[in-house]
Amino acid sequence: MNAIDNAVNSFRTLLEEQIARSERMRNAAPAKDFAALPVVTIGVIDGDGIGPIISAQTMRLLEALLADEIAAGKVVLKRIEGLTIENRLAKGQAVPTDVLAEVKTCDVLLKGPTETPKGGTMESANVSLRRELDLYANVRPVSVPDQGIDWIFFRENTEGEYVLGSRGIEIPDTLCMDFKVTTLPGTRRIARAAFEYAKNNGKTNVNIVTKANIMKKTDGTFSALCHEVAADYPGIEAEDWYIDIMTAKLVDPRVRSRFQVFVLPNLYGDIITDEAAQLQGGVGTAGSANLGDQYAMFEAIHGSAPRMIETGRGAYANPASLMRAAGMLLRHIGRTELAAKLDAALDATPNDGLTAAAFTDAVLEKL
Ligand code: IPM
Ligand code: MG
Repeated sequence: MNAIDNAVNSFRTLLEEQIARSERMRNAAPAKDFAALPVVTIGVIDGDGIGPIISAQTMRLLEALLADEIAAGKVVLKRIEGLTIENRLAKGQAVPTDVLAEVKTCDVLLKGPTETPKGGTMESANVSLRRELDLYANVRPVSVPDQGIDWIFFRENTEGEYVLGSRGIEIPDTLCMDFKVTTLPGTRRIARAAFEYAKNNGKTNVNIVTKANIMKKTDGTFSALCHEVAADYPGIEAEDWYIDIMTAKLVDPRVRSRFQVFVLPNLYGDIITDEAAQLQGGVGTAGSANLGDQYAMFEAIHGSAPRMIETGRGAYANPASLMRAAGMLLRHIGRTELAAKLDAALDATPNDGLTAAAFTDAVLEKL
């Protein structure tokens, strides 16, 4: 069989799989109420590089904040081992089967950054967990109060360029093709999440960010469906933006403070949330929630910073990002007051070159 036939055959398989995924979303079970669970199991995954350092420090805060509930058996902190680059490479799996089984015994996860090998066929552990747990909404707040910035990004988290990112097609010596997938149920659910958030939090403006002038099928559909969902939310303005100009507007002090909520496809959301986090003080300061109907995972928006470990600066990793994520976790399980307490302590603790442990001591003092 020639290379073209091979490619066409694998494309058929991909198409069938994605249609099946879309069907599963249409028939999804109702969402679990995370704030109403009698016992909440929080899985803790250290990750790679600076992960174990910032994870250990964040655990100190969670153990302090949740001490009574842990003692009463209402909250269980469960350490999950084995999601390390060494074990993943040894098993040849992005998320080893036994680790995934452990993960699925939890309700929510606090996850340190995991290393993603460049090239090869090993998928990112993040991407794999987001898909396996169907964590479709990547929610990333960015706030710079003295510049009037109070943004929240709803990044689609399970499809776009990511869903088949390790399964592109190659015609040897000639060309390669990757795929971008936008499903209708996948788009409607992220749009719904963004507009529900806007409605429940008194926001009046949702920005739909695509490149629909070029990616006509995928982004065109994404934008159209967001507007269809918007029709159910009178009083909330839905505005279309192209990703390139939005990237510029985020650094334009004259317009950026009017943006409130953003909804956007996966890869654009990945890129622009790093830019947005930088305005707040860097990716080390930003937390991120990956929300699904049955599970939720909270993490820093940055990677495992292997360079910090190689140069012996690991102890100085800033744990604030993972701590912000822990705050989002507490909110998600209905511990709103504890979350507010944690956020206030973090707001009041600048990190000017402290070690992770010293920074955490300072935060603990304010709790
Ligand atoms: C993020 C990260 C991940 C992504 C990587 C680590 C796979 O950059 O969470 O933004 O691309 O989504
Ligand atoms: Mg990213």
